[in-house]
Amino acid sequence: MALKETKLKTITVPLGKRSYPIYIGSGVREVVGKFLSKIPAGKRLRFPRQTIIITDTVVARLYLEDVQRSLKASGFSVHVIIIPPGESQKSLHRADAIYAELLRNRIGRKSTIIALGGGVVGDLAGFVAATYQRGVSFVQMPTTLLAQVDSSVGGKVGINHPLGKNMIGAFYQPLCVIADTETLQTLPERERVCGLGEVIKYGIILDEKFFEYVRKNLPDIVAMQPAAIAHVIARCCELKAYVVSRDEKEEHLRAILNFGHTVGHALEHAGHYRSLKHGEAILLGMIAETFLAHQLKMITADNAQRIEDMIAAVPLPRSFGFIFSAKKLIHTMRSDKKSLEGNIRFVLPKKIGRVTLPIPVKEEIIAAALHSLNQFVMNL
Ligand code: NAD
Ligand code: GLY
Repeated sequence: MALKETKLKTITVPLGKRSYPIYIGSGVREVVGKFLSKIPAGKRLRFPRQTIIITDTVVARLYLEDVQRSLKASGFSVHVIIIPPGESQKSLHRADAIYAELLRNRIGRKSTIIALGGGVVGDLAGFVAATYQRGVSFVQMPTTLLAQVDSSVGGKVGINHPLGKNMIGAFYQPLCVIADTETLQTLPERERVCGLGEVIKYGIILDEKFFEYVRKNLPDIVAMQPAAIAHVIARCCELKAYVVSRDEKEEHLRAILNFGHTVGHALEHAGHYRSLKHGEAILLGMIAETFLAHQLKMITADNAQRIEDMIAAVPLPRSFGFIFSAKKLIHTMRSDKKSLEGNIRFVLPKKIGRVTLPIPVKEEIIAAALHSLNQFVMNL
């Protein structure tokens, strides 16, 4: 198995019988057939080894051929479904079109859906895998930084509803995750920044040493320098595996992965999922939620400033791209999945490396933190 530049790193998500490996390395897309052949017989589907690659037009142009070649060389048959790129594809309409194509091609239960792409493809393909004929096997091949450090791990799959993002879905773990760091070289800078949002999140919620590593190596990480990026992906996956193995269905600890997401999701919604990308909204959401923690005297000024400085060092959008209204954002936050009995709840940082579980915060305090966020963006 010839891998380039960096060695293969393997991290396990420990979930008993449903445990699975995450393979991280440069060029691993070219040996995907060998990884799939290694899946234990008890989990793997028997011959004919039918695979279905779901990908988008951008990723297909860049990486589909390599993946197809490797699968065929290992004796898998391959059916390809290519969708347009973008968040709007995470819809029931698109899932329905994929079900129809699978049925027309008589794809049975003994098959494996492979998601080749970013978080959009991963969430959608995973949702189809969880529901088609009551569930077929599923493999994640993430190709964006955000997907490699976060969305491909942990089994959250789903689609959006016109009344809310990620409102329809399931917990459905993949058989394995294959993250080719080489694919990140073709990512536009804006997508790299989106992934950085989740990377910084892991440092703030769980690991101060990792936060410092990211701060010191930010230019190498933004440039996707192979050794730095492989370390970052592996550490984020280890941290996510730790959380998911303790609370797979988000009954308690897993909620900490939502730091920055209460405000972030409201910002995405306000921009109609076009003005801000998910990762950008999370970066801004983390700033607002740090201001909130500071106003509540839960975090020291020094720690809050370290978070603000880190996020300010990232190439962020210089405007929201929509008219900022704290009132409207708070209205959206009331529908957040963490809200309880009418109270908006937040995961808040206590120090770098430590956060609370979701706690309720009064709306006037939220409004003040949102005004501080508006100032922050105006000063960028
Ligand atoms: P994305 O999937 O929309 O990909 C971004 C863009 O990059 C797309 O246009 C895609 O075609 C392109 N692209 C992908 N790989 C590329 C490559 N290697 N080179 C060049 N271009 C490439 O966006 P994303 O940021 O990966 O994912 C965002 C989605 O992930 C959101 O829907 C969000 O809700 C979801 N998400 C899910 C979880 C989870 O736990 N399931 C966690 C975080 C985010
Ligand atoms: N990205 C949040 C989670 O996986 O729980």
